[in-house]
Amino acid sequence: MTTDAERRSAAVRGHRAVYGVEPDAVAFAPGRVNLIGEHIDYNGGLVLPVALPFGTTCSVSPRVDGAVHVVSASLGAAPVVGSLDALESAALQGWWSYVVGAMALSRSRDAFPGGVSVRVDGDVPVGAGLSSSASLECAVLVALDAAAGRSTDPMTLALTAQAAEHEYAGVPCGIMDQAASMLGRADHAVLLDSATLHHEHVPLHLREQAVSLVVVNTRVHHELADGGYAERRAVCERAASMLGEHYLVDADPAAVEDLPEPERRRARHVVSEQARVRAAVRAFGRGELDEVGDLFAASHASLRDDFEVSCPELDLAVASAYDAGAIASRMTGGGFGGSIVALVRDTDVDAVTSAISSAFSSAGYLTPDVLVVDAADGARALV
Ligand code: GLA
Repeated sequence: MTTDAERRSAAVRGHRAVYGVEPDAVAFAPGRVNLIGEHIDYNGGLVLPVALPFGTTCSVSPRVDGAVHVVSASLGAAPVVGSLDALESAALQGWWSYVVGAMALSRSRDAFPGGVSVRVDGDVPVGAGLSSSASLECAVLVALDAAAGRSTDPMTLALTAQAAEHEYAGVPCGIMDQAASMLGRADHAVLLDSATLHHEHVPLHLREQAVSLVVVNTRVHHELADGGYAERRAVCERAASMLGEHYLVDADPAAVEDLPEPERRRARHVVSEQARVRAAVRAFGRGELDEVGDLFAASHASLRDDFEVSCPELDLAVASAYDAGAIASRMTGGGFGGSIVALVRDTDVDAVTSAISSAFSSAGYLTPDVLVVDAADGARALV
């Protein structure tokens, strides 16, 4: 695993090579994988993500020519150069919109009256549903904050990152990904109440039980901005208003059954998933991972059948993982592709990996990427 010291020295070397100066600040922000509580954050409920050991490193240094320069070491794309005002109104697409949005909304932008040079370098697979975008936004915000000599409260930065995603990338996401990136803790999940923003860290005790956290990227490209996500969110909001609730998670399960379709099945997922999050927190606390396995299986079925955000590759990965002995397995993140998350006994990791790979190869799917990860710390300045 890459250490903070290694990330920092690679960033300093890279920054010097591009801009000829040392950065004033270097920050790292991780991607995330959600254990359970899917499509719950924008419905006002509890979610249980963990921060990943990979993410985005961002370095910044001041300029004197009034310009903003941004380079990405990992994407190899041409640098973006211009005044921040010009970049903001350029309606940049994709990756750049996250960086420019975070810079535009950072309250630390006033610390760079003469412009700023930014370099980012990331190792979260893009489009895998592991929040490469949240890690990018948060890394930029923490780096600007550190360079300005501030240490803004992490949840405030998470909200700024979410606003960047709404306003500049056009994705109406909830707060889970940015909060997980900012607030993660090694060996813990973040139990976040997305209505109140109250959060606590839940110890997972996986290592003591010789259990690995496994993420399988199906390599089916997951794209939040393509409309499916926004459509699900709009249906949930409509269902909540039909039921007279501010948040759909508060709906009475019996009342949900009287809704018309598609509100009925979407709401049924939300209400049942919320109950599963509470049960999963209790089960993790008692070390009852078989119970977590039942909850993950029910969560996946609900996302597949009621919320309809799974796809054949995710379904096959989840089923193959269970067949090969995984304790728990489900699709994770927004869906429509991306990754599954699984809990696998250390001794079964090889069997689960090869079962998923050979099922994918027989089905003619792309070779999946299997990542064995640890729950990791959240965003931080690298000093
Ligand atoms: C994406 C969004 C999150 C959340 C998940 C689904 O990752 O960015 O806010 O809604 O989908 O749980």
